[in-house]
Amino acid sequence: MYLYLLALKGSRYTMTMIRNLGFIGWRGMVGSVLLERMQEEGDLDYVEELVLYSTSQAGQPGPELANAQPLLADATDLDSLSTMDVIISCQGGDYTQKIHAPLRSMGWQGYWLDASSTLRMNSDSTIILDPLNQSMIKENLANGKRDFIGGNCTVSLMLMALHGLFKENLVEWITAMTYQAISGGGAQQMRELLIQMGEIHEHARPLLHLRKSSILDIDSRVNEYLNSGALTTSSIGYPLANNLLPWIDIDLDNGTGREEWKGQAETSKILGREDNPIPVDSTCVRVATLRCHSQAFTIALSQDVGIDDLTDIMGQANQWVKVVPNNKQDTLQSLTPVAVSGSMDIAVGRIRKNAFDSKIMTVFTVGDQLLWGAAEPLRRMLGILSEQQAYSDS
Ligand code: HSE
Repeated sequence: MYLYLLALKGSRYTMTMIRNLGFIGWRGMVGSVLLERMQEEGDLDYVEELVLYSTSQAGQPGPELANAQPLLADATDLDSLSTMDVIISCQGGDYTQKIHAPLRSMGWQGYWLDASSTLRMNSDSTIILDPLNQSMIKENLANGKRDFIGGNCTVSLMLMALHGLFKENLVEWITAMTYQAISGGGAQQMRELLIQMGEIHEHARPLLHLRKSSILDIDSRVNEYLNSGALTTSSIGYPLANNLLPWIDIDLDNGTGREEWKGQAETSKILGREDNPIPVDSTCVRVATLRCHSQAFTIALSQDVGIDDLTDIMGQANQWVKVVPNNKQDTLQSLTPVAVSGSMDIAVGRIRKNAFDSKIMTVFTVGDQLLWGAAEPLRRMLGILSEQQAYSDS
C-alpha cells in the first residue's frame, strides 16, 4: 500500500498520510513557488516524511521543513527514488526523460507528479487541472493510472478562465491571442528581461535627462541600440524589453509553434474530448511582463446567450475567477499583470459580444503563470491522492 490510512476513530473525518514524498527541483522557480504554497496550505501535515532530492548537493543539509529528512538525497539514485510513494518533479523535462522510464522499469508503482511537459501527452498520463477534470483524475486513479502531469500554463489559465462556458457546453471554437510573461521561459530569462530594461534606460539616460532633447532622438537612440547587438540577450535570444516576440516554443514547420499546438491538444485531453476536440487556434506572443500570462479570446458560442448571463456563468464557475466589470477604470485597475501577479485570482474581463455576430464573444484574462499555471494543480493533486486513499481504504 502506498499511502496508509490514519483513521481518527470515532471522528467523522478520515485523514490519510502520504507515507513519503520525494521532491525534485524544489529550489527552482516553479519548485519554490510550489513548496511555498504547500507550506502555506499545510500540505506537509499529511506527508509523513518529505525527502528533498538534489542533482548536485546530495548529502548536504536541506532546509528545515516540517517532516523533512535533514539531508538532501541524490536525485539520480533510482533505488532511493523507488522507495517513494509519491514523487513530485519540478526539475524539468530532461530529468523526467532520464529518470521516469528507468524507475518504472524497476517496477516502481508510486505516483509521479510532474510540472514538465515530457509525459503530458502519453496515454498513461493524466493532465491535472482538478477544478475542471477532478472526476477524470479520480477515475484514472481508480483505474490504476500513476502519472499525473501539470498542464501547459497558458492552457491551464485559459481553461480556468473559461470554465463556466465549458460547464455549460457553450464553446464551439476559440481563438486565443496570448501575451505571455517571461517567467514561462524560466528564471534566467526573467532576470535577463530586467537587465535589458536597465541597459536600455542607461543608454537613453543622457538624453532623457536633457531638458531640450527630442523624444524622436531618444527613440532613435534606443532603437539603434536594440538593433546593434549590444543588449544582453544570452538567455532570451532577442531583445524583449521595448519589444515583443510573436513565437513561443519550437517551430513545428507548419506555420505554428508548439505552444500554439498545445492550445487544442491539451484542452482536448484535459476535457476528455480527444475524440471530439473543441477547435482552439492560438497566436502565442511573449511580452515584457514578469509572471502573468494574459490572453484575449474570441469564442464562438453554441447559443446566443446574453452578456449578463455569460458574465454570471463565467464568474460563478469556480472560486478563483474574478470578473472585472467592463469599464475603463476597473479594467486598468484590476485586469492587468501588475494587479494579478502573486495571487490565485484568474481575472476575467472585457466580456463583450462581437460587434457583428451575437453568437461570438470576446474575453480578456490574466492569471499568474507560476500559481494556477504551474504549482497549484500539482499541490492540489497531493490532496486528491490523500483523499482518494481515504475512500478506497474505508
Ligand atoms: N510554455 C510556457 C511559456 C510556460 O513559455 O510561457 C510553461 O507552461
